[in-house]
Amino acid sequence: MAFENITVETRGNVGLITLNRPQAMNALCAALIKELGQALDTFEADDSVGAVVLTGSEKAFAAGADIKEMASRGYMDVYLSNFITNGWEQITKCRKPIVAAVAGFALGGGCEVAMMCDFILAGDNAKFGQPEITIGTIPGAGGTQRLTRAIGKSKAMEMCLTGRMMDAAEAERAGLVSRVIPAAELVDEAVKVAGKIAALSRPIVMLCKESVNAAFETTLTQGITFERRLFHSTFSTEDQKEGMAAFVEKRKPAFKNR
Ligand code: HXC
Repeated sequence: MAFENITVETRGNVGLITLNRPQAMNALCAALIKELGQALDTFEADDSVGAVVLTGSEKAFAAGADIKEMASRGYMDVYLSNFITNGWEQITKCRKPIVAAVAGFALGGGCEVAMMCDFILAGDNAKFGQPEITIGTIPGAGGTQRLTRAIGKSKAMEMCLTGRMMDAAEAERAGLVSRVIPAAELVDEAVKVAGKIAALSRPIVMLCKESVNAAFETTLTQGITFERRLFHSTFSTEDQKEGMAAFVEKRKPAFKNR
C-alpha cells in the first residue's frame, strides 16, 4: 500500500509504522490519521504480524494535530465531523500490542497518540507536552484523561494548564514511559521488545492486553473478577499446555497461537 504521510514495513513478525511528515514535525493531519488507521487495520489482519511499533523521526514523534488544518474550523465543522473520535480512537481498538517509540517532540495530539499505544519507550531526547492551552484550546484526544491517569493530577494539571514540556527522564520518573533509551537505538530496541511479544502466544498476549486495559475502566473488584475469568480461560488453550510443558521439560515453547 502506498502512503504519503507514513512509511510502513515489517521487521520479522513486527509491523513498523513511521510517521513521515518531516516538513511539519509529523503534525497529525487528517490524511496522516487516515493512513495510520489503514496501516493498523492491515497489521491487525496480518497473521504474520504479532505486534506493532509506532514511531516518528529522531526530531519529532509528532508535534500535535495539524494546527494549520484546524485553525479556521468552526464548532459545527468539528462537531459534525466528530473530529478526533473518527480515526484517532482507532488506535485504541487494535487488539495486537502497539509500542510507541517516542524520540523528540510528542506534543498535543502527538503525546495523546503515544498514550493511546500500550506502552511508551522514550528516546533520551524525548519531550512530552500538552501545549494546547497556549494556542487557545485544550487537549482533545484524551490528554486530560490519559495523562492524569498516567502521571497523577498534580503533574497532569500543571502540564495541561501551562503547556510545560517534560523531558524523558522526568517522564520515566512520573511513569508516563516504561523506559528511556538512547535515541539512536530507540527503534531497534522497540522492534526487539515488540518481537519478543510477537513470539509469544497471540491469543494469550491479546487476553493480557485486554485485562490490563480493564484496569482503566473498572473498580478493583470488577477488574480482578475480569482478570480471573480471563486467567481461567487461558487453561482452555493449547498454548497454556505447551508453555507449561516446555517449562517442566526445560525447553523453549513452540506456541501455535491456539
Ligand atoms: C502544523 C506544525 C506543527 C503543528 C510544527 N509545525 N508543529 N504545523 N501543526 N502542530 C510546522 C511549523 O509550522 C514549521 O513549518 C515546521 O513544522 C517546523 O516547525 P518549527 O516551529 O519551525 O520548529 P522548531 O522551532 O524546532 O519548534 C518545534 C516545536 C514547534 C516546538 C515542536 O513547532 C511547536 O511548538 N509546534 C506546535 C506544538 C503544538 O502546539 N502542538 C499542539 C497542537 S494542538 P513552516 O512551514 O513554518 O516551516 C493539538 C490538539 C490536539 O495537538 C487535540 C486533538 C488532536
